[in-house]
Amino acid sequence: MSYQPAENRYGTMRYNRCGRSGLKLPAVSLGWWYNFGGVDSFENARVMARRAFDLGVTHFDLANNYGPPPGSAEETLGRLLRQDFFPYRDELVISTKAGWDMWPGPYGDWGSRKYLLASLDQSLRRLGLEYVDIFYSHRPDPETPMEETMGALDAAVRQGKALYVGISSYSAEQTRAAARILRDLGTPCLIHQPVYNMFNRWVEDGLLEVLEQEGIGCIAFSPLAQGLLTDRYLKGIPPGARASKTERVWLTEKDVTANINKVRKLDALARRSGRSLAQMAIAWALRKPQVTSALIGASSVRQLEDNVAALTHPELGEGELREIEAVLAS
Ligand SMILES: NC(=O)c1ccc[n+]([C@@H]2O[C@H](COP(=O)([O-])OP(=O)(O)OC[C@H]3O[C@@H](n4cnc5c(N)ncnc54)[C@H](OP(=O)(O)O)[C@@H]3O)[C@@H](O)[C@H]2O)c1
Repeated sequence: MSYQPAENRYGTMRYNRCGRSGLKLPAVSLGWWYNFGGVDSFENARVMARRAFDLGVTHFDLANNYGPPPGSAEETLGRLLRQDFFPYRDELVISTKAGWDMWPGPYGDWGSRKYLLASLDQSLRRLGLEYVDIFYSHRPDPETPMEETMGALDAAVRQGKALYVGISSYSAEQTRAAARILRDLGTPCLIHQPVYNMFNRWVEDGLLEVLEQEGIGCIAFSPLAQGLLTDRYLKGIPPGARASKTERVWLTEKDVTANINKVRKLDALARRSGRSLAQMAIAWALRKPQVTSALIGASSVRQLEDNVAALTHPELGEGELREIEAVLAS
C-alpha cells in the first residue's frame, strides 16, 4: 500500500541547529548500521523507517559498509526511497560515509581521495540519489595527508554529490586541523560523529570544546552503548540481541557481564523518574549543549518509539545527574 506519512509528523520532534550552520537535525536520529542490511527483514526495516519519519525523525544515517553484506543498508534505503520516500526526499537528511574497509585492494579503505570519491559514487548508485545531504570521512587516516582527505570532501560538495561534509571519530586535535583545512577550502565542516554514552565519555576530554569553538555540530553515536544502556540485558542475553551475534562483534558477552551491575542501578534510577533506561541514556547524551542529535539504532518499532519518547520527559535535573555520576564511579 502506498505510504501516507503522518500529517502531524512535525508536531512533537525537537530540531536542533547543527553547530553554526543553517541545518537543523532532529534531537533523535536513526542509524542504519544494524537491522537494515540484506540479511535483515525488509518489512521490519520498512515499518521502522516509516514510523521514524512519522515521528519527525528526519535524519537517516548510513555508511558505505553498513549491512551485512556491506552496501546493503544503502540498497535497502534506495528501495524504500523508490517505494515510499521519494515524494519526501526534501524532508529527509540522508548521510553516508567512507573510511572503513569496503572493497579489496589498496583503494577500498582509509582516507585517500581515490577511495572517498569512488565510494561516494557507489553509494549514490545504491541509494538511487543524485546527492547525499552529508558525506563523512568515517575515520581519520594516519597515513594520508589530512589535506587530501578534506580535499576529497570538498570535491564531493563541488561536484554536487553532497550538500555538507562531516568527520567521524577524529580526535580534538585532528578535528581542529580538519576544520581549518575545510574552512580554507570554502566548505565548512558541518558535523562531527563521535561515540558518546555513559560508558564512553572521551568527547568530554577536549573534543566538545573544539566543536563549540569551531561551530561544528555533534551527532552522538551509540548513545545506548549498543543496547547495554537499556533493559535489553537485565535478564541475560536474549537470542537475537546484538551481544548474541557472532558476525560483526562490537558488543560482547564480556561487555555485558562487566557492566551489568551498573546497568541495573541506572535502570532503577531511570524508573524512579518515570523513564526507561534508554530514555535516560538519551537525555544524558543530549544534556551537553554541543550535542545536536542522539544517533540511536533500533531493531523494532517498539524500541524506536521508546527512544523518541525520551524527548517527552523533562531534562535531567542536577540531582539525577549527580546520582548517575555516583553509579558510574561505583
Ligand atoms: N561513525 C561511526 O564510526 C559509527 C559507529 C557505530 C555506529 N554509528 C552510527 O550510530 C548508529 C547507532 O549506533 P548503535 O546501533 O550502536 O546505537 P545504540 O542506540 O547505542 O544501540 C542500538 C541497539 O540498542 C538496542 N536498543 C535500542 N533501543 C532500545 C530500547 N528502547 N530498548 C531496548 N533495547 C534497545 C537494540 O539492540 P538489539 O539489536 O539487540 O535489539 C539496538 O540495535 C548506527 O546505526 C550508525 O548510524 C556510527
